[in-house]
This record gives sequence, structure tokens and C-alpha cells, in this order.
Amino acid sequence: MSGRETNRVLGHAADADGIEEYDNPLPAWWLGLFYFTIGWGLVYLVDYHFVSGRSQAGYYAAELADADVRWPQKVVTAKVGDADAIGRGAQIYSQNCIGCHGPELKGGIGPDLTDGTWIHGGSAADVTRVVTEGVPAKGMVSWGPILGAEKIADVAAFVLSRGP
Ligand code: HEC
Repeated sequence: MSGRETNRVLGHAADADGIEEYDNPLPAWWLGLFYFTIGWGLVYLVDYHFVSGRSQAGYYAAELADADVRWPQKVVTAKVGDADAIGRGAQIYSQNCIGCHGPELKGGIGPDLTDGTWIHGGSAADVTRVVTEGVPAKGMVSWGPILGAEKIADVAAFVLSRGP
């Protein structure tokens, strides 16, 4: 060690039941590194917020925009009146919807889908949207992630074919 005083006894053993404490200064390279991280932190802070104007909200918005480009949301509106779609929709209905809307779509846990009275609107776009997004607070499942756009278009066509 280059002339630095090390292992100096601090001399307060009398206050501490005879336990001696040494003063061992931290090595210069360690302290240098420590102060460097503080300086680096300040520089980084100023650069992040004021110089290059980055922000987490900005990154988030950019990622969302990027995701929209990479995975465009597929919305297929009900194929109203398409006999094939209605046939496939009847299958999908009996596998997923009967439990709540009943075999004749007359309702049960869920509302009657044949009476022409709609809580969320009865256009092709409305029915497609309600089935896709669901009404989680009322117990209607969000079918979008389960069935996918094509199957929802089919089942919506089936539902609409059974209206008044
Ligand atoms: C777990 C029970 C349940 C299942 C299964 C279910 N629904 Fe529903 N559904 C509901 C409830 C409850 C509502 C009423 C939501 C409200 O009050 O806003 C509803 C509402 C709807 C509506 C809107 C009705 C209106 O008056 O606006 C449509 C359309 C619909 N469901 C279609 C479907 C289809 C198609 C399926 C099958 C893919 C399905 N539901 C499966 C419970 C269910």
C-alpha cells in the first residue's frame, strides 16, 4: 500500500466492551468506481429525459404500433344470409352457446337471441362485436380469443338467421 495508513485502531474500545474497531479505508480503485457510477447515473438521467427525450410511455406506444403492423386484428363481420356460414355457425352454437342461450336460442342464463330485442344492438357488426368481446361483467364470455374471427362470423350469421 502506497503510504496509506491502514489498520488504524479507532480507539473507542472502552465504549464497546473492549471490542476494537479498525479503520480500513476502501481501496482507491473501489471508491473511484463508486463515484463513477454516481456520475454515470446523473449523466444517464439527464440524457434519458432531456437530451434524447426517451420515455417508457413512448416505447410502449411504439411497441403497440409495431404490434398492430405485425399482427393486424382480424375482424370478419357476420356473413349474413350465407347458408354455408349459417350451417357451420349452428355447429359452433351447439358446441359453445347452448348452455346459456338455450337450444332454441330462447335464452336461459343468457338472453333470448330470437325476439328482436337486443341489449347491445342487433346489426351484424353489433352481434360480431358482442360475441368477440363478450360482456364479462354479465357472464357473457369473450369468444374472440377462443373461437377466432372466422368462427365468430359464422356463429353470428347463425344467430342473425334465427331472428324475427
Ligand atoms: C356462460 C354463459 C354464456 C355463454 C356460454 C354464451 N353467452 Fe352469450 N350472453 C350471456 C349473457 C349473460 C348475456 C347478456 C349480457 C348482458 O346482459 O349484457 C349474453 C349476451 C349475448 C349476446 C347479446 C344479446 C343482446 O341482447 O344484445 C349475443 C349476441 C350472445 N350472447 C351470443 C352468444 C354466442 C354466439 C355464444 C356462443 C359462442 C354465447 N353467447 C355464449 C351468456 C353466455
